[in-house]
Amino acid sequence: MTLIAPHGGTLVNRMASRAIDEVSVLRKIQVDEIALSDIRQIGMGAFSPLTGFMEESDYREVVERMRLVSGLLWSLPVVLPVSQDIASRTELGERLVLCDQHGVAHAVLTVNSIYRPNLHTDVSLIYGTNDMDHPGVNVTLHRGDIYLGGPVTVIPNPGADPFSEYAHTPEEARSYFEQRGWKTIVGFQTRNPIHRAHEYIQKCALETVDGLYIHPLVGPTKDDDVPAELRMRAYHAVIHHYYPQGRVLLGAYTAAMRYAGPREAILHALVRKNFGCTHFIVGRDHAGVGNYYGTYDAQHIFQSFTAEEIGIIPLFFEHAFYCTSCAGMATTKTCPHGEQSRVILSGTKVRSMLVQGMAPPPEFSRPEVVSVLMEFYEKFAAQV
Ligand code: ADX
Repeated sequence: MTLIAPHGGTLVNRMASRAIDEVSVLRKIQVDEIALSDIRQIGMGAFSPLTGFMEESDYREVVERMRLVSGLLWSLPVVLPVSQDIASRTELGERLVLCDQHGVAHAVLTVNSIYRPNLHTDVSLIYGTNDMDHPGVNVTLHRGDIYLGGPVTVIPNPGADPFSEYAHTPEEARSYFEQRGWKTIVGFQTRNPIHRAHEYIQKCALETVDGLYIHPLVGPTKDDDVPAELRMRAYHAVIHHYYPQGRVLLGAYTAAMRYAGPREAILHALVRKNFGCTHFIVGRDHAGVGNYYGTYDAQHIFQSFTAEEIGIIPLFFEHAFYCTSCAGMATTKTCPHGEQSRVILSGTKVRSMLVQGMAPPPEFSRPEVVSVLMEFYEKFAAQV
């Protein structure tokens, strides 16, 4: 059986198959959590066809045209920012060891490109705003203003992956799908605890495909997002009680959240194609934050590209909610009742309820999820 082709046709594997001898003699630089999470994606091929951090030519094409120099669709930069000081001591062609804050080596980078992005104009193109309150803009403007680009060879660090049991490589996810005999697989991205609307759109999709790959993002997020460990526990509880075993796989997507709305929806779809998904769910305000993007902008952006160049089928969903008149989940596409019948709670509202020790209603959240969340928020509730 043949699964869907990865983006660009070949699944990249940049993992070193044996110890890299020169690591002890090469110059080492410390990189941040986002770079470490990008290294993981590049190493295992989640970011195929990328083989390293973007060189200037690819970076400019991606920022300005959402394409790599090869013409292949790619919507967000994957870059390695460094300080002026490090940049001034780095030479083209040099090989650098990229380390975490504890000095552990994660990759060797061959520096093919050293460049200064036009950060203040580029953030507007990437995020649609240059507002410093946007978490993606803020991080981009503070990470460093000189970028190093070039291929990386990734040093295996067993145990370094958060949620290693779930952090399948694309190859592992593909082989699971093959063993199950799934031909059509829908991927689901999330950075929030699962609620009934998530479950509803996943199950609507699952009605028409063979398998569901729940792939929560567990890499770096902004501080006030619910911690990944908690979200994974909530997923466990819900899958156990409410999902058909054998038709769902829970994974963990170890990448960083960019909060780039429409552009990130494209990236999320391409990455899930690399993991072997044939379909990808895009609901309301996908990868959005605050009011920076229109509710369906992340769906509209897919119209800018042909189905062939995207290569994975996006499944679009309207805003879903529980309707008390229908006594079930619905969207405005399927429900004739008015707003007074809808149980809709924003993430901010849910967090403020939890902090005050109040449980969100079962129409919004399964009780198993509520108990996981309440347990965590208890310590905040005690302070109120
Ligand atoms: S994020 O990664 O897109 O920021 P989030 O958990 O908020 O994560 O959403 C996961 C997916 O579910 C996205 O595709 C989002 O559009 C969709 N979604 C979330 N809530 C709803 C809802 N009430 N109705 C329809 N789609 C939703």
